Amino acid sequence: MSLTVTPSGQACGATVRGVDLSRPLGADTVAAIRSAWLAHQVLAFPDQTLTDDQLESYTLNFGPFGDDPFIAPIPGHPHIIAVKRKADETAPIFAESWHSDWSFQARPPQGTCLYGITIPPTGGDTLFTNQYLALEQMPAGLRQRIDGKRAVHSARNAYAPAGFYGAGDKGRSMDIRPSEEAEAAQLHDLIRVHPETGRESLFGTAGYIIAIDGLAADESAALIGELYRWQTRPEFQYRHRWSANMLVMWDNRCTLHMATGGYAGHDRLLHRTTIGAA
Ligand code: SIN
Repeated sequence: MSLTVTPSGQACGATVRGVDLSRPLGADTVAAIRSAWLAHQVLAFPDQTLTDDQLESYTLNFGPFGDDPFIAPIPGHPHIIAVKRKADETAPIFAESWHSDWSFQARPPQGTCLYGITIPPTGGDTLFTNQYLALEQMPAGLRQRIDGKRAVHSARNAYAPAGFYGAGDKGRSMDIRPSEEAEAAQLHDLIRVHPETGRESLFGTAGYIIAIDGLAADESAALIGELYRWQTRPEFQYRHRWSANMLVMWDNRCTLHMATGGYAGHDRLLHRTTIGAA
């Protein structure tokens, strides 16, 4: 089996061919995929026919399952959530804001696998942004203001009862379960060294980051906003176009991502697993 890795030509991302992910993978193949993943941060594998069991087996090549709070798993698969939207749904698009998955956890996940099942003919792209690059190219003044700082991460704005997906979130086909547990907060360094590549990266962004530890509320909000505008600049982005039977895996330790809309009148369904912290 020989892998072909074709970079997207954008700020991150590559397409991988030459491997059948439905089969058990040898250690060499897993190592080659892992190395491509670390190099490109987001890998897309088109033309893969995977059952839910096979999606789970593939995920476990890269770490334990992560913990997926606030979203009910699909029946019979406690480690798979369905990212879905019906053609006539009017609730806001799920995950249409920049984030690193579950960054509010004490040990946030390494990565995420997302498998496209029903893909609309237009729209529904996923955007990624390379947070190594955002840090490397950051103006010295902004870098100085975040050096050594820790961010307060919380799911409260999204998943608490008063949050975005809380009691007022009606007519959504995804099975989201808001909870008081979303009020919890966790501190993480704004700049972290990636444990596998040894490269410094920004971690997390506005949304799950609700404050900067030790700063007054107004100063904190201003810094979070400035940082967000820098992190999400177009030159750090990769726009991923989906096709059915495509598996995408991304590294949450050095990227942010967000869903996009533009497919009203069409169903969209993907199954997602989380690669937990090693
Ligand atoms: C997600 O953040 O897991 C969803 C991404 C997408 O729906 O494109």
